[in-house]
Amino acid sequence: MESRGTIGEGVQVNSVGRTVRFLLVSFALDLTQVRSTPKVITDNEGRCIVIFIGGPTRDDTWRDVVKAAAATMASVRQEGVVAGLLPKDVQSHRRGEFVALPVGVSHGNGRLKPGNLYHPPERVKLIQRLLDDPSIKRITSYQSSVFSYYAPKLYAQYCRNLLRVFEHDESLQRNFKGSVFPAASFNLGPATVSIDHTDAGNVGYGLCALASLGSFDSRRGGHLILFDMGLFVEFPAGTVALLPSGILRHGNTTLQAGEERCSIAQYCAGGLLRWVQYGCQTAVSIRNSFTKAKAKEVLASLDGVHEDRVREALQLFSKVDELDSDRSEIYKDFATFLKED
Ligand SMILES: [Fe+2]
Repeated sequence: MESRGTIGEGVQVNSVGRTVRFLLVSFALDLTQVRSTPKVITDNEGRCIVIFIGGPTRDDTWRDVVKAAAATMASVRQEGVVAGLLPKDVQSHRRGEFVALPVGVSHGNGRLKPGNLYHPPERVKLIQRLLDDPSIKRITSYQSSVFSYYAPKLYAQYCRNLLRVFEHDESLQRNFKGSVFPAASFNLGPATVSIDHTDAGNVGYGLCALASLGSFDSRRGGHLILFDMGLFVEFPAGTVALLPSGILRHGNTTLQAGEERCSIAQYCAGGLLRWVQYGCQTAVSIRNSFTKAKAKEVLASLDGVHEDRVREALQLFSKVDELDSDRSEIYKDFATFLKED
């Protein structure tokens, strides 16, 4: 199936358009820009908004961890396909032609309260193998650590709100004790290549964490493309990226024939934070509790003024020269939120 989208104005992106050669010409980049990691991309006022980083420094085991996680993901996919547990909509969806399993706690899309993403019981057993895998646990913990390191204030905002969510309902299941993110998409491939998209359900002012895994030539494919920024970056197996996926259009360059790539995307639904902001209830329940005029007034006061919200959201992103002080500020308060699995 051919995928289509646009870069800037009117440039069509199909499977050819997501090749490295096409993007180098379209975005006028040189290969040094594409390859440099770690990479912190800031906005025009110096806020860290996109981060690419390799594995933990001085950790000789990371390569094996990434390999082992990829092997588990491939075996779960193969077993799932053979057992008929991965229907067509799991294998082909708006993000591309690869197996994607969303797992964890979410809210929105008409749900009355936060809930565990549903899967039939047989598939739950399969998913549990992903959640129990020690290598996958290490990668997801590392993604969360990178988040806390480069966006400490935003990380603290997630902690504060998600503590309320989980305290409110004991039936909600956290994917990983070592990660702040309440949900993950296990993109099991075999060739995980995302079509350009935004993840509108994620926290609009938040960051999601991606980890790239598999066996592919990262110089020739699997790059993360940031269409709105006119940028694409090599994304080798073992690399983690943070990006505001709710608002930045992103996707991948195509792989070479026969290559395998998978990824883990950890994220937080915007509906979860909104639910806390509304006093652990939905806008619908507020509307049902008051007269129309009163409900409008209550919601307006809870929402606040748009300009203030934008300013507050921007303040959650650290500037490079503020990172040290922002880290020391929040680490002491949220050290107990996460416990290693
Ligand atoms: Fe995405």
